[in-house]
Amino acid sequence: MADLLAVNNVTKAFGGLIAVNAVDFHIAPGMIAGLIGPNGAGKTTLFNNITGLYTPTKGEIVFDGQRVSGLKPHEVQARGIARTFQNIRLFGQMTALENILVGMHSRLKGNIFEAFFRPPRVRHEEAEAAAKALDLLDFVGLGRKFADWPARNLPYGFQRRLEIARALASDPKLLLLDEPSSGLNVEETEDMAFWIEDISRDLGITVIMVEHDMTLVSRVSDRVMAMNQGRVLAMGSAAEVQRHPAVVEAYIGTPAAAGETVERAAS
Ligand SMILES: Nc1ncnc2c1ncn2[C@@H]1O[C@H](COP(=O)(O)OP(=O)(O)OP(=O)(O)O)[C@@H](O)[C@H]1O
Ligand SMILES: [Mg+2]
Repeated sequence: MADLLAVNNVTKAFGGLIAVNAVDFHIAPGMIAGLIGPNGAGKTTLFNNITGLYTPTKGEIVFDGQRVSGLKPHEVQARGIARTFQNIRLFGQMTALENILVGMHSRLKGNIFEAFFRPPRVRHEEAEAAAKALDLLDFVGLGRKFADWPARNLPYGFQRRLEIARALASDPKLLLLDEPSSGLNVEETEDMAFWIEDISRDLGITVIMVEHDMTLVSRVSDRVMAMNQGRVLAMGSAAEVQRHPAVVEAYIGTPAAAGETVERAAS
């Protein structure tokens, strides 16, 4: 099957610092890929290149047969790539439902005139959007009772799930999750594993997940990629990558070297 995503020899430099260094990999549709690596390895910068926040200094990114590097973030999203952020980025004063509707916005067809006069087609679209947003709240296990809560009043774990629901609202083919379990307790992290598996299995969405929790990575990933200092060190099964000498070396002095979960406060 043709690759959904091809990252072709991508380098991103910030002045003299090479944050992503000649990274080259392909992702097949339907896969859950885990991306691991110590702090500062270049994982988020790689995501930022894929989603159009940054343009690669060298190399190109091809999604679904079309080049996406150089496009703006909303253009990349419209092609079918959605993401969540390492630091939750919700609209705090807006309700949970409104946050999801914002994620859907790029898909709604109405123009400014129609938004003002709200002809029947627009009203119908809005009702459909609200129904879909409620379904997404159900899907991530938040439930409808939180629909009218301002996002900032939701418990932290719920905010993480709401971010995923918002990303799903744009009907992506590829979902990038940047540390989805960051700040969650053990039970919430287990639930997160279920959501990620559901997203892949039930919705057919391809997932790339940056994660420090090796239990979560090992459980849900079909393939794992390890980075350090901008470079990909190893790719393979979670077990293969974890025992790869270059990966062990990169993690020396960190808890992951001892096979433990790297517990990190939400940064
Ligand atoms: N906009 C920027 N300008 C300058 N340097 C940057 C920028 N963004 C990232 N960097 C640097 O690039 C390197 C990689 O950072 P990045 O955030 O991608 O790491 P990461 O693997 O996501 O780490 P963490 O696990 O801590 O989230 C770091 O040295 C970081 O300081
Ligand atoms: Mg990061």
